[in-house]
Amino acid sequence: MTKQTLEHKPSPGLIVLDELDTLVTDRYRLLFAKIDLISRKEGKKIIAITSALKGEGKTTTSSNLAVVSARDFGKRVLLIDGDFKNPSVAKSFGVGQSIGLVNVIAKECLIDDAATEGPVPGLTILTMGKLSPQKNTFQREEGHIWTSNGMKEVLADVQGHYDYIWIDAPPILPLFDMSVISETVDGILMVIRVGETSEAVLSQAVKVLASNKVIGSVLNRSKKKLGSRYQDYGYY
Ligand SMILES: Nc1ncnc2c1ncn2[C@@H]1O[C@H](COP(=O)(O)OP(=O)(O)OP(=O)(O)O)[C@@H](O)[C@H]1O
Ligand SMILES: [Mg+2]
Repeated sequence: MTKQTLEHKPSPGLIVLDELDTLVTDRYRLLFAKIDLISRKEGKKIIAITSALKGEGKTTTSSNLAVVSARDFGKRVLLIDGDFKNPSVAKSFGVGQSIGLVNVIAKECLIDDAATEGPVPGLTILTMGKLSPQKNTFQREEGHIWTSNGMKEVLADVQGHYDYIWIDAPPILPLFDMSVISETVDGILMVIRVGETSEAVLSQAVKVLASNKVIGSVLNRSKKKLGSRYQDYGYY
């Protein structure tokens, strides 16, 4: 695939990019290694990162996992922004959002034109992109990127080129029908903001997902301190 090359001005949340030798970066490496074990055994490569509620750490987790899996494990990786409610992958990597997934789905451009080289070798980014205001409202509010066959077609086109496709997905509970996401991906990783998301909310969210697709959970921002900004990541 050919891709555009853009200058990156990543957000501070993309911590693994600059902090190669910190415990936090090691945590992401460990998280990826565990996911890799399960994924290779079960033949899963398209993995959506979601959470019960918004703001639990989906973009942070998917962006850092994308960097680590490409740079430190030599995987061919695509990170797709699938969160029509709050597309933030472009901001996370400090790249523009003028064209991306929605433009590909609307057949305004090819994936090659919309994809961007990531800041490390092996990583490609497909931001959400932007449509005209009229179309944009429809795409985002109705979750059209997921409910149309658009995402499925994009994934069918790209999956032969990558070892892992991470999708920064919308949160589960604000009413969107998640069954369509469960059907579209191979695996789902749940991000849980420790101490904020109650067990009741979490179990309500997990019920909505196809349970055979959930490959694990990331316990984000747990109390065990690992650094000044970031805390513990767990996986089970
Ligand atoms: N482990 C962490 N330690 C400290 N701050 C964190 C951690 N994980 C995420 N954050 C911060 O919490 C905020 C929300 O994180 P993020 O954007 O990744 O969540 P999200 O689930 O993608 O949110 P949304 O649903 O709004 O898209 C960001 O400001 C991010 O930098
Ligand atoms: Mg997000």
